[in-house]
Amino acid sequence: MPALVVIGAQWGDEGKGKVVDYLTSRCDMAVRFQGGNNAGHTLVVNGVKTKLNLIPSGILREATTCLIGAGVVLNPEVLMGEIEALRAAKVKVEPQRLLIDFNTHLILPYHIAIDGAREEAKGQNKIGTTGRGIGPAYEDRAARCGVRVADLLALRELKARVDENTEHANRYLEHVLGSARRVGFEDVWQVIENAASHVLPFAADGSRVLDTALRQGNRVIFEGAQGTLLDQSFGTVPFVTSSHTLAGAVTTGCGVGPRSVDYVLGVAKAYSTRVGSGPFPTELSDRIGETIREKGAEFGTVTGRPRRCGWLDAVALRRAVRLNGLDSVMLTKLDVLSGLESLKICASYELDGKSLDDLPVTLGDIGRVVPVYQELKGWNEPIDQARSTAQLPEAARSYVKAVSQLIGCPVSMLSVSPERSATFEHEGSSFLRDFVA
Ligand code: GDP
Ligand code: IMO
Ligand code: MG
Repeated sequence: MPALVVIGAQWGDEGKGKVVDYLTSRCDMAVRFQGGNNAGHTLVVNGVKTKLNLIPSGILREATTCLIGAGVVLNPEVLMGEIEALRAAKVKVEPQRLLIDFNTHLILPYHIAIDGAREEAKGQNKIGTTGRGIGPAYEDRAARCGVRVADLLALRELKARVDENTEHANRYLEHVLGSARRVGFEDVWQVIENAASHVLPFAADGSRVLDTALRQGNRVIFEGAQGTLLDQSFGTVPFVTSSHTLAGAVTTGCGVGPRSVDYVLGVAKAYSTRVGSGPFPTELSDRIGETIREKGAEFGTVTGRPRRCGWLDAVALRRAVRLNGLDSVMLTKLDVLSGLESLKICASYELDGKSLDDLPVTLGDIGRVVPVYQELKGWNEPIDQARSTAQLPEAARSYVKAVSQLIGCPVSMLSVSPERSATFEHEGSSFLRDFVA
């Protein structure tokens, strides 16, 4: 202890990477506990951009050990590419600094083929996945036929299972999905052999390392991927990812007990975005939505798809406060709202004449809710150079206050540009201060 969980409070891309990078200045360990390379986390330090898909956002801090926990699904080739790119940028990525839990499951070529073929087969009804094989890899984990990092230690015993999995995948692609995609055993095996050479050196007993770190009083940050409304149980099912994105996933994602976490920080944008299909009550399909997309550079880090943009949804955020037990929220991208004459925050929904203060249970009803907005004055001046709340225009301060009141949770920190340094305390928290002091 002390251990902090950072999770996305909306539909992903809230700025989790930036916040984790900021908070790791005095941090001993940064840990990913779910998701895979569907995540795209962006760090900007002195104008230099680093994009991470699998490696925790503490990697730029030399004193921070990074752990990929067992709850992650890991594409070994993507990992090797990421390590290479970091090394090319002179970041040290050695087995002492990056650990991968032996229990982590691998994403293999047949998972990617099935993900793509399923989306094709769904046509108009597609989920809009990132196409990275995330769902099929988690399915194999649940079906107990997946391949773990530990399996790379005994390649000879693994061969028959991989052969069977590949054959099964090809039959499924052909006969169920009607797809022309096929996966060759030799290609899959090549990936596995490469992983045995290049990934195994990083393999470790992650939960034990973490347990020791926590017992020694080290500072640990658990870095969530995706966001609360993409959780496979509590998000807008079926338009969600295939892992639990909530703070609770830390325990099973790293093998630590529920008492290991001291503080839960939710990251939320000052507005809302969503990539892929699915209901989005406050979506703006007009000029304002386009303005936000352009000013906020709202194009997916992983797939480059334009993100759908909309007003801040306090109903969805209140749900995130509850589902994660948030201690506070960090509000990012406040600068993007500069220049809008008036701003709206969705305070509640209306459905068939009834007022709702949470998402309804059926997908159809979520798609039919009408947002009830609170309107606030905008501000004109750019705020990306602000480094304290006092330097913000009055209207921006009022906006942040309204957010905090509507979601019933303190806003501890603000972010006003992609730069690491453009982050400052708002309501403040001595717990978080300890991570950056
Ligand atoms: P993550 O997936 O939650 O880590 O977020 P992404 O990196 O996918 O998307 C957030 C984007 O917003 C990245 O391009 C960040 O560099 C950028 N960003 C983060 N915080 C701010 C901010 O306060 N202002 C602006 N303008 N951009 C930000
Ligand atoms: P970070 O960590 C935003 C979305 C996809 C799709 C759905 C399912 O960068 O915030 P998947 O490939 O996971 O099966 O896709 O989830 N999605 C994300 N959206 N940010 C992410 O991660 C996402 N990871 C998955 O767009 O709608
Ligand atoms: Mg992202």
